[in-house]
Parts: sequence; structure tokens; C-alpha cells
Amino acid sequence: MGDNVLKVSGLKVAYGGIKAVKGIDLEVNKGELVALIGANGAGKTTTLKAITGTLPPCKVEGTVSYKGESLKGSKSFHLVEKRLAMVPEGRGVFTRMSIQENLMMGAYTRDDKAGIDADIAKWFDVFPRLKERAAQMAGTLSGGEQQMLAMARALMSHPELLLLDEPSMGLSPIMVEKIFEVIRNVSKEGITILLVEQNAKLALQAAHRGYVMDSGHITMTGNAKDMLDDPRVKAAYLGE
Ligand SMILES: Nc1ncnc2c1ncn2[C@@H]1O[C@H](COP(=O)(O)OP(=O)(O)OP(=O)(O)O)[C@@H](O)[C@H]1O
Ligand SMILES: [Mg+2]
Repeated sequence: MGDNVLKVSGLKVAYGGIKAVKGIDLEVNKGELVALIGANGAGKTTTLKAITGTLPPCKVEGTVSYKGESLKGSKSFHLVEKRLAMVPEGRGVFTRMSIQENLMMGAYTRDDKAGIDADIAKWFDVFPRLKERAAQMAGTLSGGEQQMLAMARALMSHPELLLLDEPSMGLSPIMVEKIFEVIRNVSKEGITILLVEQNAKLALQAAHRGYVMDSGHITMTGNAKDMLDDPRVKAAYLGE
């Protein structure tokens, strides 16, 4: 207790008449990798947007606290300053900037030039595709390449909490493996992660704890390894 980085209590979100999130509690402790899994339309992305305060106009109830503080009204640059980074669903890159510039933008709150250069070199090493295309506009990258860049850019800010929305989406099986290797390594480095994924198996294999979301409710939570063995999770989310 007391070491949660993120605490969501009684969160409800309604888009007009559509109740997308119906009163959920969720917390992520320091250093944890927590998976949030669930079917299409369950309310996962809505939950992440409620956390970062990036929802379109809609009705929100409940509280979100990040390091004990409310994020209400925060702009995206406030979030980076507070060391919270989000990789949104699909592509979250600056399409009219080069790959190199996107990575530099990710690090705009830092002033350790040598460290920034070393990090860029590190990510080019992890994703050689990005290195080969360093000067190219990010908008010309393939979907999967943009996904890699979005992840690297988020990590350039050295976040304390990383929110990932379906990082494996649109990636080939080899790249999915690679992205998950990156996620596991980032977690080992001590960054706290909330991971939203359709790929429940990979997510639970990487995570410490998990939550299942179904039609706006959290229907199950527990230790990730136990959830992998749970017959209900197996039947509904692992196709076993
Ligand atoms: N801007 C919006 N206006 C109206 N309804 C919305 C809006 N955004 C989401 N919804 C609805 O809210 C529900 C939850 O959507 P959400 O995007 O949170 O689901 P999700 O769990 O992320 O699904 P997926 O796995 O497909 O990404 C869906 O029924 C969706 O149609
Ligand atoms: Mg979603």
C-alpha cells in the first residue's frame, strides 16, 4: 500500500448515452507491469484516455490519481513533465517530422545532451529500421514502423509511468516478439507500465498482474500467472 503510482477509483465514462466505463477501480504499483485485457469495445482505450485526461467531451465520474495527484486539466506537455508517457492506439508520431526529430521531441524535457544522443543510438540499435530512415518523415513510415517509433519516442522522455495502448497492433509476429522484448526490458529497468493489449497471452506472460475488462466493468483481477491458468481467462481470451 501507499506505493501506487496510479490509482483509479470508481471511474465512469459515458459518451452521450453510451456507457463505456461503468465504475472501475484499478491500481498500478511502483515498478509493476500491469496488463489490462478485454474484447473490442470493452472500454480499455477510454480508461487510458480518462487517466491522461485526453477524452473528448463526455461525462466522467470517479477519480484518477498519479503519484497521489489528480491529473485533471493536464495538457500533454504537463504529462511529460510529470514523467507520464502514453503511446496511443495506432500511430502517435509527428508525421511531418523526421524520425530523428521525433526522438528528439520525446526528450524535450531533458537537458543531458550526451544522454539523449546515447538513448537515440540505443533505440536505433533496437530498431535498425528507424536508423536506416532517420532523416525520413515519420508519416512515410509503415504502420508497424510508426508503432516502433512511437514507443521509442515515449521512452526518450524517461517516464516513470508508461501507458501502452495495444503496442502489438499491426505488427508482424517477429515485430510483436521484439516489441514485447522491449516492454519486458523497460519493465526490468524499473519503469512502471500499464499495458492494454488484445494479445492477452503475451500481455499476461509479460505482466506481474492483470485486469480483465468486459463491457465497461473489471470482471477479474489477479496475479498474471494465475490468470493465465484460469479456465475463464483461457476460454474467453486465450482461445484455449
Ligand atoms: N468518442 C466516442 N464517442 C462515442 N462512443 C465512443 C467514443 N469512443 C469510444 N466509444 C465507445 O465506447 C466503447 C469503449 O470503447 P474503447 O475504445 O474504450 O474500447 P477498447 O476496449 O479500447 O476497444 P478496442 O480493443 O477495440 O480498442 C465502445 O462501445 C465505443 O464504441
Ligand atoms: Mg482500444
